[in-house]
Amino acid sequence: MRWLTSAVGVAALLGAASAQDPDSKQVVDAETGFTFGQYVSDQGISFRIAIPDPAPATGSYDAVVQIAAPIAIGWAGIAWGGSMTYNPLTIVWKSGTDVVLSSRFAFGYYVPPAYTGAVYSILKTGTHVNATHWQITAKCTGCTQWGDDDIGVTTLDPTQQNPLAFAFSTVPPDTPSSNTSSFGIHDSIGHWYHDFAQGTNPGFTALVSKNSEGPGSSNATTTATGGSTGKPTNSTLTPPRPTTVTSKTSSFTSVTLTPTGNSTTTSSKPTPPKPTKPTGPPKPSRPPKPTKTLKPTAPVKPPHSPPFPFPVWTPKPKPTAKTPV
Ligand code: HEM
Ligand SMILES: *[C@@H]1O[C@H](CO)[C@@H](O)[C@H](O)[C@H]1NC(C)=O
Ligand SMILES: *[C@@H]1O[C@H](CO)[C@@H](O)[C@H](O)[C@H]1NC(C)=O
Ligand SMILES: *[C@@H]1O[C@H](CO)[C@@H](O)[C@H](O)[C@H]1NC(C)=O
Ligand SMILES: *[C@@H]1O[C@H](CO)[C@@H](O)[C@H](O)[C@H]1NC(C)=O
Ligand SMILES: *[C@@H]1O[C@H](CO)[C@@H](O)[C@H](O)[C@H]1NC(C)=O
Repeated sequence: MRWLTSAVGVAALLGAASAQDPDSKQVVDAETGFTFGQYVSDQGISFRIAIPDPAPATGSYDAVVQIAAPIAIGWAGIAWGGSMTYNPLTIVWKSGTDVVLSSRFAFGYYVPPAYTGAVYSILKTGTHVNATHWQITAKCTGCTQWGDDDIGVTTLDPTQQNPLAFAFSTVPPDTPSSNTSSFGIHDSIGHWYHDFAQGTNPGFTALVSKNSEGPGSSNATTTATGGSTGKPTNSTLTPPRPTTVTSKTSSFTSVTLTPTGNSTTTSSKPTPPKPTKPTGPPKPSRPPKPTKTLKPTAPVKPPHSPPFPFPVWTPKPKPTAKTPV
């Protein structure tokens, strides 16, 4: 992997970097044409985010997420709010020559259930499996803003660094072909500060269209290099930033996550109430940027009452006004 060869040089540069610098770097993906902010984990998993330019000053905006993982990675995921729980999770894995994306949202430290508040469109160009890696590129509507009155609404600032988190396991999901598959706990997780401004794309919508059908489509532009086997000839993907993340390795082996029986005839188990949002996750040592737009405290009671064990949480329509509880 060529990035290893320049790791030393990068480390030297980083040594002089200010503490305020993001952990992500700007890269241009020759295959899709998107400009991304990219973070590369110690394991060589690349997490890339592209957004429109301009992005709306308030509210939700679409994002294109691209994840490229070494072939030995069983699943990998992004937590858009920087913690496992109470934020959209984009989980991806390979299934044969396809790559599958699953939208999840965790309410606790067990297999995150499906999340309908984020909707994805997989871009065929930029999604492939080759001998060494699998990669997926998808547009997400609903990854940059989430929440409701109960857990608070969070909006990621498109102009700033946002604290994100990743997780991965070398163990593939139980049923790779299904985006609702269960999977085991991560081998490791990490946190980083991702500069969303690095991934701004004035031609965002056109790029989404251009890449959505893939290079094989008659309606697709033919300038995209690389298909399923193509080589990004002139990618400017930059080397990773080594060891900037406190990645803690779990000693758990792959845990099976059906918390109490996976029978569909669930007993009259009380719905797992959306509990109080747990206190924040471990974050990098520097003070986080102010990215939360509002955060009412207030778990009065769980109106969502998701069924166990795989509840699907759909956020309520966005609150138009903050009503003090
Ligand atoms: C089978 C599914 C999963 C299980 C059983 C599981 C379980 C756990 C457990 C037990 C912890 C440690 C909590 C602590 O130390 O206090 C943890 C932490 C964490 N997990 Fe998961 N996890 C799963 C999936 C995921 C996924 C898909 C992500 C997506 C990125 C993720 C991200 C994290 C992060 C970032 C942390 C650090 C603590 C936090 O942010 O809350 N996990 N997980
Ligand atoms: C799985 O894919 C279907 C079809 O695209 C989609 O409707 C559903 O929301 C996805 N589920 C998850 C958990 O991502
Ligand atoms: C591709 O299809 C879209 C919508 O289906 C259409 O708007 C666009 O003009 C087409 N582009 C080409 C080059 O045919
Ligand atoms: C395989 O895919 C990875 C991730 O997209 C890419 O970086 C690499 O260049 C590809 N290898 C070949 C031989 O195309
Ligand atoms: C990238 O492409 C440009 C123009 O196509 C070329 O001048 C440049 O040398 C290429 N860079 C690399 C690293 O291949
Ligand atoms: C749970 O699922 C496992 C594997 O799918 C199965 O072997 C087991 O019988 C199931 N348990 C129940 C209670 O349905």
